[in-house]
Amino acid sequence: PAPGWSIDADVVVVGSGVAGLTTALRCAAAGLATVVVTKARLDDGSTRWAQGGIAAALGEGDTPEQHLDDTLVAGAGLCDEAAVRMLVTEGPDAVRRLIGTGAHFDTTESGDIALTREGGHHRRRIAHAGGDATGAEISRALVEAVREAALHTVENALVLDLLTDAEGRTAGVTLHVMGEGQHDGVGAVHAPAVVLATGGMGQVFSATTNPAVSTGDGVALALRAGAEVSDLEFVQFHPTVLFLGAGSEGQQPLVSEAVRGEGAHLVDAAGTRFMLGRHELAELAPRDIVAKAITRRMELLGTEHMYLDARHFGAEMWEQRFPTILAACRAHGIDPVTEPVPVAPAAHYASGGIRTDLRGRTTVPGLYACGEVACTGVHGANRLASNSLLEGLVFAERIAADIVEDRPRAGAAETGDGGEPSPLIAPEARSTIQRIMTRGAGVLRSAESLAAAAEELEALHNSAASAVETGEPKVAVPGVEAWEATNLLLVSRVLVAAARQREETRGCHWREDRPERDDENWRRHLVVRLTPERR
Ligand code: SIN
Repeated sequence: PAPGWSIDADVVVVGSGVAGLTTALRCAAAGLATVVVTKARLDDGSTRWAQGGIAAALGEGDTPEQHLDDTLVAGAGLCDEAAVRMLVTEGPDAVRRLIGTGAHFDTTESGDIALTREGGHHRRRIAHAGGDATGAEISRALVEAVREAALHTVENALVLDLLTDAEGRTAGVTLHVMGEGQHDGVGAVHAPAVVLATGGMGQVFSATTNPAVSTGDGVALALRAGAEVSDLEFVQFHPTVLFLGAGSEGQQPLVSEAVRGEGAHLVDAAGTRFMLGRHELAELAPRDIVAKAITRRMELLGTEHMYLDARHFGAEMWEQRFPTILAACRAHGIDPVTEPVPVAPAAHYASGGIRTDLRGRTTVPGLYACGEVACTGVHGANRLASNSLLEGLVFAERIAADIVEDRPRAGAAETGDGGEPSPLIAPEARSTIQRIMTRGAGVLRSAESLAAAAEELEALHNSAASAVETGEPKVAVPGVEAWEATNLLLVSRVLVAAARQREETRGCHWREDRPERDDENWRRHLVVRLTPERR
């Protein structure tokens, strides 16, 4: 259907996590007519689930240089050093400005920001709020600031496609809004600057820490718009996600790295600390190393999970420092004060995404990407813990500055009339895609498992395409669930193709058949730009 309503703006920000709301607030403060659209409610999305915190060299004796070193090591040879340097140098002040916006971080008795440790960090440099509810506090503060600034927001709005002008410049987006009064149904926001801050794609896997809304919508839109996407094979699996039973699907409760940062031990059923002797940081090794060690131990012992033992914290510390995790464990019948917590790795973070420069610009003029949806070069092959909120914050400010300085211009929108991509995938395919991806492209991959996944995904695509061609009744009915399934299938196909191509093990990309890192051939990025016929 053609757009039934439209809004004109200077900039439209898609997504309402730390990246989206910070960009929107800065653009609006500079006097730009700013519209924020978000798929669910303003405070849904991944930011509010972040536990451990936000990394920045704020502590005495810590320096951006040391933060840079830890980030580069975790990124396994694929970070863009200039991007990381910018992140760690601008990070501390960006956190202070976030505090100025109203976010309350935990403090020490002397009033300094309290800092914890997480995997891959050689120092205490993770600021946190509410113990283990950092994302919730950041989200609260930003949503409140957005409401105070009376920004134009449209909730329950799924972004469909990019609008471009005759020169191929960004001219806005089409949206499907569900029940927002004047903005109901398919419509458009016309704006010469579009900032995608749609978060990740954890929902391509069966079990993930990501909320249900993380369906790769931004990356799928960028692929359909012909923007470059990079590093999709680097999916980070968080080592310690509460194990809820074999075959548990959907969003799973995270058990923050900060629990290990404060001294919890990873043990097997016999109580053996299997990280000792594996890495100088033991349980605090970068998370790809910990996730791999857990997976190997599970294979060796034929079990489905390991344990995180933090009984020695005692009730008071659990209650004060980790109230969210304590409540989640108890809600599932586990008491971390008296028993070890069963944990297993689950999909957590897309280190790759839409390729940008240091000002957040994608390869399509006027289109920006910020936060998890972007590939700015700061994460390389494996993101360092708690660098993601920081990236969202720092790049949001850079993007807003770029829009204010450059004021992108666009002619009338020419393409993207709100029509459906072909084929549109039926909502029921979602769980099939997740099972295929978990089996074939999960924490441990091989040429064989990836080939099988690629074949099954192509079969899903082809069967939907032939249904469209022959006009069969099983053609998907347009709607949010069908769009999400379509986006999941597109990003899964591109992810699997990249994982097949990268014939080595590096960072969080673990190929059982190619167990070594191969710097000679693979110290490079896989960049994808779909040709019109593949979009
Ligand atoms: C955690 O709290 O363990 C998550 C931190 C992160 O993903 O950076």
